[in-house]
Amino acid sequence: MSKTPEKQKGDPETTGHVWDGIEEFNNPLPRWWLWTLYICIIWAIGYAIAYPAWPMLTRATPGLLGWSTRGDVAADIAAVQEANAEINARLASTELTQISADGNLNSFAVSSGAAVFKTWCAQCHGSGAAGAKGYPNLLDDDWLWGGDIEAIHTTVSHGIRNDDDDDARYSEMPAFGRDELLEGAEIDQVVNFVMSLSGDAQDASQVAAGSVIYEDNCSACHAEDGTGDREQGAPNLTDAIWLYGGDYATLSETVSNARYGVMPSWNQRLSEAQVRAVSLYVHQLGGGE
Ligand code: HEC
Ligand code: HEC
Repeated sequence: MSKTPEKQKGDPETTGHVWDGIEEFNNPLPRWWLWTLYICIIWAIGYAIAYPAWPMLTRATPGLLGWSTRGDVAADIAAVQEANAEINARLASTELTQISADGNLNSFAVSSGAAVFKTWCAQCHGSGAAGAKGYPNLLDDDWLWGGDIEAIHTTVSHGIRNDDDDDARYSEMPAFGRDELLEGAEIDQVVNFVMSLSGDAQDASQVAAGSVIYEDNCSACHAEDGTGDREQGAPNLTDAIWLYGGDYATLSETVSNARYGVMPSWNQRLSEAQVRAVSLYVHQLGGGE
């Protein structure tokens, strides 16, 4: 510690703290600063009484004004719903096929449908609706159950092969291997025949026998020419667009064990206006008929 300089008369008062010869003045705090501090304290007390402030075991103290961020969001949502109530009612009551002719209504439906899709559909069909294995691509014009607005609306309302809606779309492909309807060699033949339908590389020696097996076991659902049947959600096997995959191993697995794609119904979870909005959104994605 260096030497403290001699005190002169009239020098400002110091606290006695000295660092390397630098002394600490003992001036009063500036008045403006002090008042700001007092005002802050008073404001904080008022705030803690009026608004949620002190964390308790399960939630914060509620505050006298009863305000909460949750309530604020609910009020915002209610305001938006109120503002959209009329157009939603119109969306729910207009003839499905007429909606796209009404420019305003259609653009409202498509944009709110996009939001519904992001929330409820994207986890299975992908955020861009391009699908994934077992979850159909909704951008193309290859439809299992139909691509006009009414068919899409039915699919979305009731879902597919679920237990919660009696009107769900339903069909079941037999598990030809597991249930011993066909032998291994026959499955091999019919798989090669199926590959020939879309012009995929196949074992040509198996195709003729496979076509007989196809005729007897598959054509009732997938049609004589392999183009499928939307009444039964049986996919077109000729277009090289695969829900599960078109390679030999995947096709053998499909024919042996069958698939059972399930989609929930949405008419309980979403309002009719939301179901229509998301159906219109899907319809205009590119493959709508
Ligand atoms: C839990 C997963 C899941 C969710 C969530 C889901 N889907 Fe699906 N969806 C499927 C499956 C699986 C299929 C195909 C079922 C089959 O094999 O027939 C399907 C089929 C469809 C089809 C029929 C496509 C065709 O080719 O005919 C439409 C349309 C569709 N979904 C729209 C929607 C919409 C709109 C939503 C959101 C409201 C949604 N899906 C949410 C799983 C889901
Ligand atoms: C009762 C109707 C029915 C019969 C019979 C049937 N299928 Fe299917 N098939 C379906 C349905 C429905 C699907 C859709 C998949 C699902 O269940 O999720 C399907 C799917 C498939 C797929 C998957 C296509 C893809 O895009 O991934 C192949 C391959 C297939 N069937 C081949 C056959 C062959 C081969 C036979 C005869 C040995 C056959 N099916 C018999 C109804 C049937």
